[in-house]
Amino acid sequence: MEGLFGKYRVLLAPMAGVTDIAFRTLCREAGADMAFTEMVSAKGLSFANEKTRHLLALAEGEDQVAVQLFGHEPEVMASQAAWIEQEMGDTLAYLDINMGCPARKIVSKGDGSALMKDPAGAAAIVSAVKEAVACPVTVKFRRGWAEGDETAPAFARTMEAAGADAVAVHGRFAEQLYRGSADWDVIARVREAVSVPVVGNGDIRCGADAVAMAERTGCDAVMIARGAEGNPWIFADVQAALAGAEAPSAPSIDERIAMARRHARLLSRREGRNIVRMRKHAMWYLAGLPGAAAARGRINYCTTPEDFDTVFDDLLEIASSHAS
Ligand SMILES: Cc1cc2nc3c(=O)[nH]c(=O)nc-3n(C[C@H](O)[C@H](O)[C@H](O)COP(=O)(O)O)c2cc1C
Repeated sequence: MEGLFGKYRVLLAPMAGVTDIAFRTLCREAGADMAFTEMVSAKGLSFANEKTRHLLALAEGEDQVAVQLFGHEPEVMASQAAWIEQEMGDTLAYLDINMGCPARKIVSKGDGSALMKDPAGAAAIVSAVKEAVACPVTVKFRRGWAEGDETAPAFARTMEAAGADAVAVHGRFAEQLYRGSADWDVIARVREAVSVPVVGNGDIRCGADAVAMAERTGCDAVMIARGAEGNPWIFADVQAALAGAEAPSAPSIDERIAMARRHARLLSRREGRNIVRMRKHAMWYLAGLPGAAAARGRINYCTTPEDFDTVFDDLLEIASSHAS
């Protein structure tokens, strides 16, 4: 794999409500070459909305981040892209435009994957943003909008012609949401259709999956979302597999819980936010451990790292009694 811009082969995907500074820190440490912010509303930024600006903050020690913008008005997208670049300077790795989100509240406004139904409008956004910034601009989209109607290869060509420096493809249709499995062959067809780098995305759950996707599609980089939930170790696994090295051993229960404790602490330090979102991360870290399902109710009351610690302590005890 060539790597995106010759540098990034393994990417942490943008995930709203997940890829905040805490999660990015853990994934980058584990081996992700680049990570995305949560998607940022261009409209929200244009209102100088603090909640939106907050999404652009870098983690301690984070050298660079890729920012994902969503919106549908070329002028707003361009002016906010320029503002982001000016604010972030060299800490901005590149800008991505979200044309893949299928959530109703996004597509009903003409944002996200709704743009796949309007290639001319999508192209107008890309060229306006390209004109406004010096950094690379990428576009992330799906196999197509309507189930069975694969428009991604033609859409990719339109994005490239509009100036996109790379594209990322998730092999599901927007109407499919997350049902079924991702089709990787569409990534190969997009690879054939354009000459800019292509990032493959969808259903990578381990290092072997990443190697299989790269071999089957010829993609330049792989992007991982759900496979990293509760599992930042996936990045070490993928890096090892791509390098042809032996897979690192799976994390022990102690390591999983230590990672969860650290995650809670990073989240608790996150400016302006409590750590309520740690609840879902905790369930992801604990998935499959004895006593985890029963702990869900308690986790849903946790509001501090120490609250989580008490649940984790109990689970460690249960685990050790199972082991003995
Ligand atoms: C909780 C969650 C939030 C997501 N938020 C975004 C987002 O903000 N922008 C985006 O382009 N995709 C978003 N996605 C889609 C992922 O980036 C990715 O394309 C999709 O999950 C398929 O990859 P996976 O099989 O590795 O999960 C989100 C996915 C999940 C599960």
